Amino acid sequence: MVRRNEIFGISLVAILCLLLIGFSQKENTNYNRSHRYQQLLDFEESFKTPNNFTIPTPSIKDVISMQGTLLLHELQDYQFPEGDNLEDYTLSTNGRPLRTIIISTWRSGSTFLGDVLNAVPGNYYHYEPLLHYGIIQIRSAPHAEPAQDTLKSLLNCDYSSLFNYLQYGMSHVYLFTHNTRLWNQCEVYPQYCWNQTFLNQFCKLFPFQSMKTVRLRLWLAESILKDKELNVKVVLLVRDPRGTLQSRKHRDWCPGEPDCDQPNIVCADMVSDFRAAIQLGKNYPDKFRALRYEDLSLNPYEIIQDLFDFLGLHFHKDVERFLDSHTRVNVGGVSSTFRDSKSAPFHWKTDLNHSEIQYIEENCDEAMKMWGYVKTNNVSNLRDFNPLTGYNIE
Ligand SMILES: *[C@@H]1O[C@H](CO)[C@@H](O)[C@H](O)[C@H]1NC(C)=O
Ligand SMILES: *[C@@H]1O[C@H](CO)[C@@H](O)[C@H](O)[C@H]1NC(C)=O
Ligand SMILES: *[C@@H]1O[C@H](CO)[C@@H](O)[C@H](O)[C@H]1NC(C)=O
Ligand SMILES: *[C@@H]1O[C@H](CO)[C@@H](O)[C@H](O)[C@H]1NC(C)=O
Ligand SMILES: *[C@@H]1O[C@H](CO)[C@@H](O)[C@H](O)[C@H]1NC(C)=O
Repeated sequence: MVRRNEIFGISLVAILCLLLIGFSQKENTNYNRSHRYQQLLDFEESFKTPNNFTIPTPSIKDVISMQGTLLLHELQDYQFPEGDNLEDYTLSTNGRPLRTIIISTWRSGSTFLGDVLNAVPGNYYHYEPLLHYGIIQIRSAPHAEPAQDTLKSLLNCDYSSLFNYLQYGMSHVYLFTHNTRLWNQCEVYPQYCWNQTFLNQFCKLFPFQSMKTVRLRLWLAESILKDKELNVKVVLLVRDPRGTLQSRKHRDWCPGEPDCDQPNIVCADMVSDFRAAIQLGKNYPDKFRALRYEDLSLNPYEIIQDLFDFLGLHFHKDVERFLDSHTRVNVGGVSSTFRDSKSAPFHWKTDLNHSEIQYIEENCDEAMKMWGYVKTNNVSNLRDFNPLTGYNIE
């Protein structure tokens, strides 16, 4: 049986290589990754179907090896910095991944920004690793330390102590579904999806490790930034509290949770983040950036290119394609120039009434001044009102 497994493993890899060579030869003009990927999945699926030839299900080792092959293919036109190659970036070869954490809060555009980073070929996405803490903000003890440890473990691809995280994820699979490259395998091999042995090895294959969290306040990120071995970069994503709170009104999990629906608490966090941003910008100028969701939405290509330069990532055509399809929704048909991403941050102008806007502005005076959000001062025509001005964290 052992020999049969070995033979199976070798043939599997051989067949995969042949398939990949076949695919890449056809790809010149008719580039269709999802079609090619489907073929690979079908091919894998054929091993899953119990049949009478008693071919064993691929082992964890087989799946890891298949993913390695997929990654080589996916990254074939990725431009690493001069002189570098994939092995320099993967933990499985004792390399050092490019690691990025997006720190934000609920309904502030972090899902969008997280998906932009995940559009980079070879990215492994640690989506919302603090989901199991519920609808709370982590600012200090008792949650701060275990939360920081969870983030560090994940960035090191070490799932061995993450019992609560995995337990929660098994019943809330969106913890993993955003991590598309992992989830593709989870759908084919559900028996391995939540297995720590599998996850440790799988994660270590990926050169880019991204993470986003909406529950950890910025100053707690310093202990992660400080870790030289991790070599992580942190991006703080901020949004106008009027936009954030308007958007949260429509989520059933937010109303009634003070950390989520109380303007004074939300804005106190923004003030604390502002002070932390100044500190981090001073102490880690090459590793920390702040970004406003409104600026990102109004100018996605320019801001993302600039952000990728800072992160050391190649602005790959897959990222461009992602932006094309997610920021240029032509709502009014072919001739319309309406772009969805340009109006998305400003829905609060039409959705909130005067007293709601006033209530937020009264509670957010300091936060709005810091981050460059202009108060309405009860203007009658909100449509033409520009809520943005400059801010300075230097
Ligand atoms: C790519 O392949 C998928 C799956 O076979 C198909 O649904 C899709 O229409 C194809 N896209 C293009 C642009 O050919
Ligand atoms: C495979 O085996 C099952 C059960 O032993 C049998 O019912 C089925 O007909 C077999 N299929 C083929 C294709 O031989
Ligand atoms: C994970 O997979 C390994 C190797 O197949 C196995 O030994 C281990 O029991 C699995 N762990 C769990 C929690 O299922
Ligand atoms: C504004 O909206 C709130 C919440 O929907 C509502 O309770 C309040 O009566 C409204 N105020 C005015 C002046 O319309
Ligand atoms: C703001 O405008 C509303 C509606 O026009 C009005 O009811 C309210 O009294 C105004 N508030 C202030 C402070 O001027």
